[in-house]
Amino acid sequence: MESRRLRIAIRFGKGNLAQTPVICAWGAWARVGLALAAGIVSRLKKGVLMQARHAEAQQDRDYGSAVVEFDDVTKVYDDGTVGLENATTSIRRGEFVFLVGPTGCGKSTFIRMLMKEFEATRGHIFIAGRDITRLKPDRVPYLRRNIGAVFQDFKLLSNRTVYDNVAYSLLVTGASRAEVREKVPHILRLVGLSTKLHNFPDQLSGGEQQRVSIARAFVNHPPLLICDEPTGNLDPVTSLGIMQLIYRINRTGTTVIVATHDQGMVDRMRRRVIELRDGHIVRDEQSAGYTSEFSAVPATDLGFAEEDAEFGLGPEPDSEPPTNGPDFEPDPEPLANGPEAPA
Ligand SMILES: Nc1ncnc2c1ncn2[C@@H]1O[C@H](COP(=O)(O)OP(=O)(O)OP(=O)(O)O)[C@@H](O)[C@H]1O
Ligand SMILES: [Mg+2]
Repeated sequence: MESRRLRIAIRFGKGNLAQTPVICAWGAWARVGLALAAGIVSRLKKGVLMQARHAEAQQDRDYGSAVVEFDDVTKVYDDGTVGLENATTSIRRGEFVFLVGPTGCGKSTFIRMLMKEFEATRGHIFIAGRDITRLKPDRVPYLRRNIGAVFQDFKLLSNRTVYDNVAYSLLVTGASRAEVREKVPHILRLVGLSTKLHNFPDQLSGGEQQRVSIARAFVNHPPLLICDEPTGNLDPVTSLGIMQLIYRINRTGTTVIVATHDQGMVDRMRRRVIELRDGHIVRDEQSAGYTSEFSAVPATDLGFAEEDAEFGLGPEPDSEPPTNGPDFEPDPEPLANGPEAPA
């Protein structure tokens, strides 16, 4: 009788199904089934999400020793000029790398793409395992927090004191006033400027201004420091002091990339050299000189001073680079770096 009622109800779609006992039971089971299915779907969704998060975290951990990777990168500027072409290279954690080559060969293009000042036309750039060519514009500030930058023209805020120039770069990362009060005088003492805290940039020499910009770049202890012609405006003695400072920073484990024309310095330090010509990487040598002929000549001591100890390392110019330096700060929104198209 009940199954007959059910058949009738189903066949004709008539009657009040809820009044039928079998239909009631069937409805209850259906509700239970639906609830179970919803639970399974939600668990699956959660699982997929967790897996994606896990893969992301794994990717961040698994960059291993490669801090910077260029995978077949080409940059063609809007006017058709080729800044970089098919560049492929990898820079390990803790390395000190010179980018050399004649004017217009693509050094600044290489450096500026790391800061994501503009997009690569083709290819992929990875920083700490993350493809920055896919990074959403609103995640770029998090990338830049991990990169200290030093330029030939210092780029200091002319209407702020030495102290405030350095404090500013801490405050924009959300540091507290207490942190600023502790870290700024400390870093300025390390770069030898503790007596100039209240000077404005135009009251400093070029070398001192560059020290401020290095203090500003390093106060957050970024895992990557990029320098574009850091000694380009300085005399040889001042340049040596600046390069010593950058080298000390490298000895704390920070990966350093320096674009330079300073042949004497490159020959003297004998670090890894990547040479560019017309946008192409034409040489990539360890313990090298400014030109390939110079590579056989041993490095000379840069004359490291006692204060190396303050950076946590002794003066060991020729030992292996430390690999236990500062780590990349995770992006607070890891999934924001998903496979969306470049902006
Ligand atoms: N914004 C731009 N628009 C068009 N072309 C550009 C732009 N910036 C750089 N270029 C060109 O790209 C090429 C590489 O320039 P880049 O500035 O990278 O060279 P560089 O090696 O840093 O030179 P330098 O040693 O003089 O600093 C050059 O031909 C340059 O004219
Ligand atoms: Mg340049």
